[in-house]
Amino acid sequence: MAFNFNLPKVNLVFGQSVLGNIAEEIKKLGNNALLVTGRNSMEQLGFLKKITEHLQNSAVKVTVFNKSTPNPTTELVDEGAKIALEKKSNVIIGLGGGSSMDAAKAIAIVAGHSQEQFHPIWEFSQSNDSPQPITSKTLPIVAITSSSGTGSHVTRFSVITNLELKQKVGIYSEHIFPKLSVVDLEILTNMPPALTAECGVDVLTHCLEGLVSKQNNPITEDMALKGIELVFSHLTEAYRDGDSLRSREGMALADTYAGLVITTSRVILPHAMSHPISAYYPNISHGAALAALTPPIMQFNIDNGNNTVWQKYCLAASAMGKRAFGANKQEASKSIEAVKELFAKIGMNKGLKELGVDAGRINEMVQSAMKTGQGPIESNPVEVREHDIARIYKLAL
Ligand code: NZQ
Ligand code: MN
Repeated sequence: MAFNFNLPKVNLVFGQSVLGNIAEEIKKLGNNALLVTGRNSMEQLGFLKKITEHLQNSAVKVTVFNKSTPNPTTELVDEGAKIALEKKSNVIIGLGGGSSMDAAKAIAIVAGHSQEQFHPIWEFSQSNDSPQPITSKTLPIVAITSSSGTGSHVTRFSVITNLELKQKVGIYSEHIFPKLSVVDLEILTNMPPALTAECGVDVLTHCLEGLVSKQNNPITEDMALKGIELVFSHLTEAYRDGDSLRSREGMALADTYAGLVITTSRVILPHAMSHPISAYYPNISHGAALAALTPPIMQFNIDNGNNTVWQKYCLAASAMGKRAFGANKQEASKSIEAVKELFAKIGMNKGLKELGVDAGRINEMVQSAMKTGQGPIESNPVEVREHDIARIYKLAL
């Protein structure tokens, strides 16, 4: 066995009501913060006020930028970065779901690299032929997660949408790995059932994809299996009873494992194929797109896989509570059964058509996946060609 394991320094604060307890850590990073959050939830639930007052009481100046939307766009990021530059912010805080944390990360890149001349976020997208390098000029980032889904509080990715080009890309750099990651269970108990379900699918797919990714290693394999086990133990309860701290804690832990898994082992085909769906249909959530794509892609990987692939899916099936032994197609397929059963229990069993995808757009989405999903496509354990992607989109309809 031989492998490299590289993880940026993790500084994670995890627990109930920890939001009022982090100002001193933030102050070590900067005393003039831009706080990036969504339009409604954190303000309505009182968490925006709580963190703002807490920071101000500790002599950290706060400017609130509360315009983040699901699937954050290049325009939003550039607008936020201009405010950060104007206010001379020296730390960027993301408070919210993956969208707000990702917007914060991207704003930290642009503001950090635009002291002399403004560099819009798209210049840093690695889908460009010669992207601007992302360096240590990036402002320090604090990620406070309000959803157990993306793992963005512990990943080196920021997923940004260019509406004009219809491209949703994962911008990556060790410099956007948050310097402080915060999970407050009290915030998570407020996730509505639909969001809990969509985010739960995201956590599960991160673990499943990281587990079978070509870039997997024994350490992330264990984290991925633990994450899968936690999702199968806690997601249904979190969906049915949002106040259950036990299940919120289980999902928050799974989300954290999953983030660490993808930041080291990368995602594979479901993520590569889900991003074009959000780029063309911004109202379809990341989790809903993944739920439609995951079973047919698992089937594709198992049908075309080898012993190692079957063994990984068998391990996954066991972590899902199925009895799967050995390493063959039939046993490996038990993981697909388990995933479909779970998705049905939490209302995540809709095909792409029902979600609003028009079959006539498949060709364009295939091209978009080929352009923006190269890394994940190459990490898929089974070789994937353009016609496979087209066929899988059709199967997922
Ligand atoms: O916008 P606000 O008002 O804050 O409301 C949000 C939003 O409407 C609401 N919400 C979030 N937390 C809540 C809450 N409502 C009540 N209580 C809470 N505790 O939920 C809605 C969706 O929020 P959003 O942030 O968009 O959802 P999610 O956390 O699923 O993030 C999805 C984004 O993250 C990207 C996805 O592609 C997508 O753009 N991802 C980021 C990754 C990363 N950075 O590593 C990896 C992932 O694979 C993923 O691609
Ligand atoms: Mn995801």
